Amino acid sequence: MKLYALLGLLGLSTFAAAGGSESLSQSYDTNDYYVLHLERDASPDEVALRLGMVHKGPLGELQDHHMFASRKEAHDVVKREIHERKRRKRQIGFRDVLDGVLFSQKQALRQPWEKRIIPRRPQNMVNPPTDEQEGPDAQAVEKQTRVIDTLDIRDPIFPLQWHLFNPVQVGHDVNVTDVWLQGVTGKNATVAIVDDGLDMYSNDLKDNFYAQGSYDFNEKTEEPKPRLADDRHGTRCAGEVSAVRNNVCGVGVAYDSKIAGIRILSKPISDADEALAMNYDFQNNQIYSCSWGPPDDGKSMDAPGILIRRAMLNAVQNGRGGLGSIYVFASGNGALNEDNCNFDGYTNSIYSITVGAVDRKGKHPYYSEKCSASLVVTYSSGSNDAIRTTDVGPNNCADQHGGTSAAAPLAAGIFALVLQVRPDLSWRDMQYLALMTAVPINLDSGDWQETKIGKKYSHTFAYGKIDSYGIVEAAKTWKKVKPQAWLFSPWIHVNEAIPQGETGISVSFDVNPDMLKEANLERIEHVTVTMNVAHTRRGDLSVDLVSPNKVVSHLSATRKNDEATTGYEDWTFMSVVHWGESGLGTWTVVVRDTVENEHTGNFTDFHIKLWGEARDAEKATLLPMPNEDDDKDHASIISTTTTAAATSATVKPDPEVTKPVVEPGVTPTDQPTRPVKPTTTPADGAPAAAETSAAPTSSSWLPSFLPTFGVSSRTQIWIYGALGLIVAFCCGLGVYLYIARRRRLRNSPRDDYEFELLDEEEAEGLTGGAGEKVRGAVGRGGAGGRKAKRGGELYDAFAGGSDDEDEDEDDDGFAAGGAAGYTDRSGSDERVNEKSRRRRSGDSARGSREEDDEEEEEEQHVIGADSDDDEGSEDGQDRGLVGR
Ligand SMILES: *[C@@H]1O[C@H](CO)[C@@H](O)[C@H](O)[C@H]1NC(C)=O
Ligand SMILES: *[C@@H]1O[C@H](CO)[C@@H](O)[C@H](O)[C@H]1NC(C)=O
Ligand SMILES: *[C@@H]1O[C@H](CO)[C@@H](O)[C@H](O)[C@H]1NC(C)=O
Repeated sequence: MKLYALLGLLGLSTFAAAGGSESLSQSYDTNDYYVLHLERDASPDEVALRLGMVHKGPLGELQDHHMFASRKEAHDVVKREIHERKRRKRQIGFRDVLDGVLFSQKQALRQPWEKRIIPRRPQNMVNPPTDEQEGPDAQAVEKQTRVIDTLDIRDPIFPLQWHLFNPVQVGHDVNVTDVWLQGVTGKNATVAIVDDGLDMYSNDLKDNFYAQGSYDFNEKTEEPKPRLADDRHGTRCAGEVSAVRNNVCGVGVAYDSKIAGIRILSKPISDADEALAMNYDFQNNQIYSCSWGPPDDGKSMDAPGILIRRAMLNAVQNGRGGLGSIYVFASGNGALNEDNCNFDGYTNSIYSITVGAVDRKGKHPYYSEKCSASLVVTYSSGSNDAIRTTDVGPNNCADQHGGTSAAAPLAAGIFALVLQVRPDLSWRDMQYLALMTAVPINLDSGDWQETKIGKKYSHTFAYGKIDSYGIVEAAKTWKKVKPQAWLFSPWIHVNEAIPQGETGISVSFDVNPDMLKEANLERIEHVTVTMNVAHTRRGDLSVDLVSPNKVVSHLSATRKNDEATTGYEDWTFMSVVHWGESGLGTWTVVVRDTVENEHTGNFTDFHIKLWGEARDAEKATLLPMPNEDDDKDHASIISTTTTAAATSATVKPDPEVTKPVVEPGVTPTDQPTRPVKPTTTPADGAPAAAETSAAPTSSSWLPSFLPTFGVSSRTQIWIYGALGLIVAFCCGLGVYLYIARRRRLRNSPRDDYEFELLDEEEAEGLTGGAGEKVRGAVGRGGAGGRKAKRGGELYDAFAGGSDDEDEDEDDDGFAAGGAAGYTDRSGSDERVNEKSRRRRSGDSARGSREEDDEEEEEEQHVIGADSDDDEGSEDGQDRGLVGR
């Protein structure tokens, strides 16, 4: 160990001498950067010393996350060191500072996300300021004049800012003027525009500019100044929110609010920097307006990386004094490409308010994306017009701003008005207010359906358009909701081929009163469904979620451009359509392949998460930070397939009793009330339909011959999980001892095994006690499943090892055999799932995914290094140095 410390020091000193920590600040050309999540009591400086790196400091607001820099290397030095450490630990049990590393990620620059500017139009459109058929309404003009006089608005383009007051299509605006007349103009509220910069020297913005909340993550400077020729987007968005009431251009919807600029879209960026950006000054920046995301090309399927997801969860838990930062996202401009905002991990996050667009006639503009995660819409370009706002330059105005890019900041500005009136509202209160006060429009188009709480929802127009007056009035008397609670289903295995046509496969999950009580869940807000579907053409798939109240969410829709062959891999869809339902009853997921062609697929598995309001605020807990392994464990008590021999230690349910209902799907229309009667059995042996009996109610999941102990199903799961664990442990130990004997290991196999288990625990680390809770009200069997999997690994290790046992006579045999077993298992669930998470973005060539792939390669490389041991590789020398 001393030698290692010494080497570390040596590396550090040469490194420090060569670079010097200041010049390290931003050169990805010569340096590598790592984010490490450390145990609370671990010392970052010791870790840095151990790794021969420089500790750059904590990672913004993310607790116990630190940034480290080192000289550039082709591989992931930290992963390798940790891997090495784990190998050595089996032989020597000393404490190593690396044991305090819970998570590490090598940073890489990836292309910035795309701005959601007005997309190319189907045909060339001219832009008359108003429609030639319609003139202004005399009464409306009179009111406009009165407002201008009363509020002393001298901004020259205000009369053209129809989104604020529309004298032509009367009523088609955000209905804000009477809010202003009450003195509600965004005072004491702060919006951060996360974008390509913000011209804080513009005469229209400088007085409201909030410097402390601003930063340029592309240039690493304080001022978020636009620098590139097309860095105009952020300034235009800022003007919509907070353009000052003066004699320049127009006004913002919250013209007395403060406005910050956070620049991230103008250069390649790392996940660490984006995570910092999303938490920047989050006690004071209250609302983050984000008019960007993965490409809207109708084939991308991409989500924020783990650090960014952690930052967003951190923001809703700790930002704004614990009330939660408010993220507002543009739904996306890919409607012409049949893109859908449920393929974007930002817009379908439960932590973001997704905003679509309507045009000045209240129509759906050709670009605005729909999805079940969309909460509200507001005005933007379309019907031959666009949004007029501030532009880059001292006195410049823009008249061509639009796309959903323009809708999101407008919504953000209106939420700033709400915060002036009620700064005490939580991030969830804001979502409630937005949907409760939204005004449905275009009821004759847009496929509106009635939700359980008497609201109308359209996937095109969401809950309707935001009405500033309505939301501010409602906010004044809003009773704050109780904390968040959640109920997670276990993974439900389906493993059925999806028949082509409208029928699809329906699988149900029953929620009973006990589960809701156990989960402390009173009523639902968001629902997420994480699923795996293998398909040779992803764009052919569509997915519906039908609630117990027969409200339908179109979680996914077909996409003509999406040729990806990866299907859905641990992808999470989200819906806000079930808001206010109790959750009690049967939830049905319907997967269809409506495009009849040579491309086919299988519905593998899914799980449902119901998020909502707690019954008992006292019992509410905070969700732990997401982990990369969160979706890794697909072992589950509910299965339509025979469990694999390797995991036989889990309670194996009788398929007849526990089989989820597989029945022909409801019609793919918006008619929520009438599931179509089972048709005749689909031809070519589609899955046995119409098995409508025996839904897996939670009290009957056990085979009848097993005792239920007269306790709740959850407790049963615990008991059987624990039994499974013990059996798995014994099997594993048995198999292990068997291998060990055959291998004539010199080390004590018992010690090895204990360390193995320890590693496993550590890998799960992060979530700890609270994490168990999250794994779910009903998913408690997970722990048993994981351990069973461990048994499976050992079993596989045995299988792999037995092939080449003759070659592995020395004491490294176990490691080599284990590694070989691991690689051989490439067909097994776990391996596939691991891959799937890493490749979730399909064929879009984003850097983040490249990074992931790199990691994967790196791991394989390390595994390879393991099995090379015998040939006196670097590893062998290393061990020599330890002087074993
Ligand atoms: C708009 O605001 C007015 C008050 O100015 C209010 O009476 C009305 O209900 C609001 N909403 C609509 C859709 O007009
Ligand atoms: C302004 O906001 C801060 C918190 O952001 C709050 O403490 C303060 O009371 C507010 N002031 C007014 C006048 O509302
Ligand atoms: C679906 O499952 C069948 C049978 O296991 C398999 O042959 C086929 O390759 C699977 N399809 C996909 C797209 O994975």
